[in-house]
Amino acid sequence: MSAPSIPNLLSLRGRGGRGRSRGRGQGLGGGSGSESRGKAHDATIQGTDTDAAVSRLSAVDMGYLSDPYARYFVSSLGGPPARRFPIINRGTYTRTAAIDHLVHSFLSEATGGAQGQAVATKQIVSLGAGTDTRPFRLFSQQQQGRPNLVYHEIDFSVTSAKKLKTVEGVPSLASILSDRSTRETRDSDWSSKPPNGEYYCHGLDIRQLSHASTTTLPGLRTDVPTLILSECCLCYLSREESDGVLEYFTSRIPNAAVVIYEPVHLGDPFSDTMVSNLAARNIHMPNLERRRNEADEAARLKRIGFETARQLTIDRIWSKWVNAEEKERVDRLEGLDEVEEWQLLAGHYMIIWSFRGEGFEGWRAIE
Ligand SMILES: C[S@@+](CC[C@H](N)C(=O)[O-])C[C@H]1O[C@@H](n2cnc3c(N)ncnc32)[C@H](O)[C@@H]1O
Repeated sequence: MSAPSIPNLLSLRGRGGRGRSRGRGQGLGGGSGSESRGKAHDATIQGTDTDAAVSRLSAVDMGYLSDPYARYFVSSLGGPPARRFPIINRGTYTRTAAIDHLVHSFLSEATGGAQGQAVATKQIVSLGAGTDTRPFRLFSQQQQGRPNLVYHEIDFSVTSAKKLKTVEGVPSLASILSDRSTRETRDSDWSSKPPNGEYYCHGLDIRQLSHASTTTLPGLRTDVPTLILSECCLCYLSREESDGVLEYFTSRIPNAAVVIYEPVHLGDPFSDTMVSNLAARNIHMPNLERRRNEADEAARLKRIGFETARQLTIDRIWSKWVNAEEKERVDRLEGLDEVEEWQLLAGHYMIIWSFRGEGFEGWRAIE
């Protein structure tokens, strides 16, 4: 939703956003055969992070979100950053606020260890993290009673290297992810030891992760409650690859949860247009192309080993989770004339959260 790389009403109108289209499709190489097509597709998928970063900054600049770090990940070389339409800004706001709500609830829960002892450490693994700013926001908050946080981000090596370069060039980012080290298993892996936890950035194609995979993730803890986050990432994988990635973690970590944000294909004309718009941009989302309904994803997660699965579309989250005062504030920012368009668009994106074991008690009350 915040990424125009994901199909939306604007692309149905033939435009990707209010501003210029930027940073799409990074240098697709020549060559022939399925390998070079695969690499070209990977490069296109890597480019979707630029769209996500631009959308985040648009929502920040318009007052929807407060995030002092978003601007550092958007290039200002081509002039002022693009502005998204109000409907997209509201989507970015709702999705970010909803994931923040689940993350904060997970982190603020004090119990969940064996025999109810306090849990001293919690872990987040962000799949396809791109240039997400959440770790900067979390590590800069020194909240009393917060558990020690181990935060992993995984993305292609080109993206993890780019993130490191940005962090090293911006003092306010470098001071949060301080005490950095690049001596890890892979060239583009790097890590940091902020005062209140540990941070790891892994340059890795997540399709290498599966139940039987021998790939290691330095710093991964298997003994602490772990939240796996996929904000528009697993949807680019086949169903089998996506299952394999989740099983990599569930087969190793007993207390685990997952939060997935992605478009949902409801098999209606809107979804069909989404799929063909993406295909025109050489973007394929196997998860989306498969005709399915909202319950299908919950059934899949239960099959993988999660016990409880809940989900809401973004329009339902806006209605149920955003309180009246906050709705008024957001409404005042730009206004939103296209209420039906909002409901149609936001009804085709969902957040699903699913968990098993200890450390997620607070989530039982969230619905
Ligand atoms: C739409 S962006 C979302 C970025 C970030 N999660 C956010 O919401 O701001 C999708 C990200 O998933 C990453 N990604 C997709 N497939 C991947 C794979 N197989 N391995 C690693 N990263 C992948 C892309 O490189 C890209 O950074």
